[in-house]
Formats: sequence, C-alpha cells, structure tokens
Amino acid sequence: MNILCGYNANIDAINKVEGARMAKMAEAYEGEIADAMLKPPGIISSIPDFFAGLFLCMQHGTGAEWMVRDRDVFRWLRDNFLEGSFLRMGGNMGIMANVLSELGASRVVPNVANPSELQMSFFSRKAIFIPDQGDVRNKGCSGNNENDLIHFVFDFRKGNSFTFLGNDISIPRENRFIATFDPLNFELYIDDKFSIYALEHINEMDGALISGYHMLREDYPDGSGYAEKLDRSIEQLKQWKELNGRLHIHIEFGHFSSEQMAYDVFGRLFPHVDSMGMNEDELAMLVHMNGLDANGILKMDANAIIEAAISLCGTSGHGRLLVHTREFVLSVSPGGLMKPGQTLESLHFGVNCAAAFACSGKLGDRDFIMEIASKIDESEFGKLQMKRIGDTIPCEHRNTNGNTFVSKYRGHDICAVPARLCEDPVSTVGLGDTISSAIFLRELELRS
Ligand code: GLC
Repeated sequence: MNILCGYNANIDAINKVEGARMAKMAEAYEGEIADAMLKPPGIISSIPDFFAGLFLCMQHGTGAEWMVRDRDVFRWLRDNFLEGSFLRMGGNMGIMANVLSELGASRVVPNVANPSELQMSFFSRKAIFIPDQGDVRNKGCSGNNENDLIHFVFDFRKGNSFTFLGNDISIPRENRFIATFDPLNFELYIDDKFSIYALEHINEMDGALISGYHMLREDYPDGSGYAEKLDRSIEQLKQWKELNGRLHIHIEFGHFSSEQMAYDVFGRLFPHVDSMGMNEDELAMLVHMNGLDANGILKMDANAIIEAAISLCGTSGHGRLLVHTREFVLSVSPGGLMKPGQTLESLHFGVNCAAAFACSGKLGDRDFIMEIASKIDESEFGKLQMKRIGDTIPCEHRNTNGNTFVSKYRGHDICAVPARLCEDPVSTVGLGDTISSAIFLRELELRS
C-alpha cells in the first residue's frame, strides 16, 4: 500500500512523573496554581498554568494537551525536563506514518514540518520516503537544538498518591498531560515538496492518513484566524480525491483547545473524508456542542458512544467514525462501505498492534505483534460493554462472536471489540494513533 501522511510530526520528550516530586517543584507557585485549577486556562502562558494542567489531569486520570504560548515557559520546560526524558517520534502523523511503515506498507510519504537530524532519526527505516530526499537514511544525530519541535509528555501512573494544596490526591488511572510549543505545526504547515510529490504521484496512492488539525489556534500573532489554514488543507484533500477516486482518506481528529473550533473543524472536514478517528474525550466535546449529554461517553458507556457517533455521522458527510477508548474500539459507518467481518478483523488487528506497542514500546513484524498481544488480557470493562450493547441494542441483524459485537442499527454498521490492556505501558501516548493507523492499513489491504 502507498500512503500519503499529513501533517504533524514532532519529537516527544516523555517523562514519567511522580506526584510528590511535581508537588515539591510547584510549591513556589501554590496560590496561582490553585486559581488556575479553579478556572483552567486550557493553554499555558505561565509556569503555574503548566502545573495546573498537569495536576488536573493527575487528579482525574484524564489526558490533555495544552499549548505553550510563551517561549520562556518552553525554555523552563527544556531546562527542567529535557535531560532525563525519553525522546521518540511524536505527533499523530509521525507516529501513524511509522506504524504504517513498520507494519508493511510499501511506501509511506510524510509531510515533515521541521526535518532536523533529530526529527529524521525517529522515522522508521522500512518504507518512509521523503519527497526530494528519498528513503530515510541512517544519519547520525547531532543532538537537539533550539528549533526542534519538542512536546513535553508527562506520563503518570495509576495509584501514585501525593499531597498538594492540603489535598490528598490518588491518581485514578494512568494517562498523560502534554505541554506543546510548536510554531510550525500550530500553522498546519504543509511542505511544498510534499504537496508537489503528492500531486505528481496521486494515482499511485491507495490512502491518505491525515491529522494535526487540533493544533490550530483560534488566533495567530499576525491577527489571522485558523480558517485559511484549514481551507488550504481541505482544498488539498478535495483535489486528491478528484484526481484519484480510489483514494481512501482517514483523519485522526485530536484534542482541540476550544470546543467551538473542534465543532467547526469537524463539520467542515467530515464531508470530504471516508473515515475519522477519535477517542471518547474528543467525541464528548463534539457531542456537547451538539447539545447532547456527554456524561455517558466520558464514562465509556458503549451505548452512549454508539448513539453519539450515529448522530454525528448524520450531521454531515458519508464517512465512518472510529472511536477508540482505553477499554474498547468501535466503528460506526453508514453501511455498505466494508463487509462487517472485514471491519471486525481490522479492529482486532488494531487492538493487537496497540497492545504490543504499549507493552514493548516498539512495533515489529506481524508475528512479533501477535506473539506479544496474545499474552495480554482483554479489558474486563470492554468485555462488559460488548455484552451490554448486545443486550440493549435492538438489532436488525446481530452476529455476536465471543466478546465482539457486530450489528446493523439505525441504518449503520456497528462493529466493536474490547481493547487489550497492558499492565505497565512503556507510555500511554500515541496508542490511539497506533490503533487508528493499524486499522486503516488493514482495511486498505482487505479492500484492495
Ligand atoms: C499530539 C501531540 C504529540 C503526541 C501525539 C500522540 O499530536 O502533539 O506530542 O505525540 O498527540 O497522539
């Protein structure tokens, strides 16, 4: 399979954080952090904002990504956390491109905003092809520099407890907080060489896997908004589709800093693509804007997720929604796009790849993945949800096979499988991207 990948790749600096150590570092800013925790800014303009975002995530076991607006705060993050962090490929697109390459795609062509030596050193050597440069070569890496696009990822673990502002906090679930300073990807930067290559080779392509919209800002220092940047990308996707009707486009949605922007971007993009992936937090944000109750979704109630996904599919487009949660993954499509058995096989493949990646921190060939994944248990909560949908959804046709769920409901094909949960993941970041891209690749293969 030949696949175009846009738009966001960066470097992730992964830190495993301990609550007590962070609370100690935060002591000097307690008052401002308390204020920011009461009224979360959603972006980072100061050091207390950073701690507020991190502690809120730790307290609730939720994940979030806040954009760093101030270069001095970014410097502070570099000074305090770069040394001792584990550097690896970041950005939804960068991670997804590597998954495709490692899993056996023939040619994977990424858009790279900042092709520094350090950034390029994290690309898979198997099938990545850089326009104008060719295959990624085994270059040495001369260390990082000021301009590297580094996102600071703070992974925390379930059960870690600490005291902050007189409150005892015990983290209910492993998750991560990301502090991102990334001027190029904020712009949804599209490299000219990538655009030219894509146009010249569009008829050789089977798919396009696109992400990075969540990094857009409502306003930019030059006074502009995000509309023009979004339009540029939509025009690109439309042009590809016009030139190659077989091209299958999947968008990975991402966590937006504003509900309004998420809703607008979804409404404008969805009509032009075949499939869109998101997690339960991202779905809840969209549904909330639609005036629906998001509580069930946040609790990972599979019935609530199905109803929400169907209502979103109905608002625009003809595409499929893929919702991946920690406990299960679920596909809702208007029907007829693929045989349900093929979707099911693809979902299983995605779950196995993500589990293997979570446990080992790497992807190998398919035998390696299956060997690791087969030893990882399926989520009990996920299995329970599969049973619940089986019990409550009035189906026109139902085919339950063990723990999986396949059905036709309200004119949509529904497929769901439980996730496999790794006890002690190398990192929780990028698992959604891994699931989505593995499913995307398997579906392309099965469709061809
Ligand atoms: C977002 C973050 C990036 C991270 C990725 C994982 O794109 O900006 O740092 O690697 O999410 O999904």
